[in-house]
Amino acid sequence: MKKAAKPWIMNLGMYEAGRPIEEVARELGFESTDDIIKVASNENALGPSPKAVQAMRKAAAKMHLYPDGGAFYLRRKLAGKFSLAPEQIMVANGSNEIIEFIGHVFLAPGDEMIMADRAFAIFRLVGLMFQANVVSVPMKNFKHDLPAMLKAITPRTKVVFIANPNNPTGTRVRNEDLYDFLDRVPEHVVVAMDEAYVELLPAGEQPDLLRYVRGGRRIIVLRTFSKSYGLAGLRVGYALAPAEGIELMQRVRQPFNVSAMALAAAEAALDDAGHLEKTREMVASGLAFFEKHLAALKLPFVPSCANFLLVNVGRGREVFKAMQKEKVIVRPMDGYGLPDHVRISVGLPSENARCIRALAGVLGRKPPEI
Ligand SMILES: Cc1ncc(COP(=O)(O)O)c(C=O)c1O
Repeated sequence: MKKAAKPWIMNLGMYEAGRPIEEVARELGFESTDDIIKVASNENALGPSPKAVQAMRKAAAKMHLYPDGGAFYLRRKLAGKFSLAPEQIMVANGSNEIIEFIGHVFLAPGDEMIMADRAFAIFRLVGLMFQANVVSVPMKNFKHDLPAMLKAITPRTKVVFIANPNNPTGTRVRNEDLYDFLDRVPEHVVVAMDEAYVELLPAGEQPDLLRYVRGGRRIIVLRTFSKSYGLAGLRVGYALAPAEGIELMQRVRQPFNVSAMALAAAEAALDDAGHLEKTREMVASGLAFFEKHLAALKLPFVPSCANFLLVNVGRGREVFKAMQKEKVIVRPMDGYGLPDHVRISVGLPSENARCIRALAGVLGRKPPEI
């Protein structure tokens, strides 16, 4: 088969996702999955909103029908929330699918795509999939270096990807710096702003990118229900962009890319402001807990604005493997060129405590008092 494949497919790396609990249990011979915790994929430890669960139960009886491919109700609801027109919104199978749509629509072989060297890995994978020339701009202190990214733009640049807050660093750029960047980006460039974690920021601190969407700028804002809304398993993301951009991406979308169950749950989740607030509180107190105990363990970490922390443990993959034996799944970061680091997602207080104890244990440190 390999000989029949397009030659550049052989050069594509595979994305290393957080390991599922069941897979770790099978591999390490654990009899039960019950006491394994996964703090590896920046999921929402509170689970889905109960309103979403209720909506899914109700939707279950209708699963013999194809979903509404146009996602009419969810788009209408999102349009109301953001004061946009439904034509400025598109729903997808996770925001990852939007990243792929951007590749389909805008990237041809040899086109330049700019990203930060330690930005979300899927940007690079998608760029390479479309044979773009992926330009990686080094981060500064684990943050996007926007002036350097601006300088890297050439007449051949088609797309710039920015994740804000970024995964895996957890950092974000200052709003004024972002606005300054967006105001200076040349007109021929499409800016893809990945805001997967933005709802975790206090409302007053979230950047206002919708004015660029309304102003018809070449911007695509990516959002997801996977993180703050706790629906990662359903795969629902969306794009906010000028209608012309959405119309282009609709052309490369499969007819039923988002399941009816996912649409029903996402709509209900939007109504559950209380769940979002609880999520923000859980994440804020979890981050404070980790910061305190990581400092006590003298482990350097990158201060985070998201629901995870990048921690320098020294020999990240070894620590990841040793923690798995303690039934705690974190994420090694060598794939991001950070062999000393692991990424730890904020969990429930009991999970955070287990994680810190396991980390101290595998590093041979005195167990912290929690
Ligand atoms: C920055 C960023 N963008 C996008 C995604 C993908 O999210 P989704 O589940 O919506 O595909 C993630 C998930 O980890 C992420 O961290």
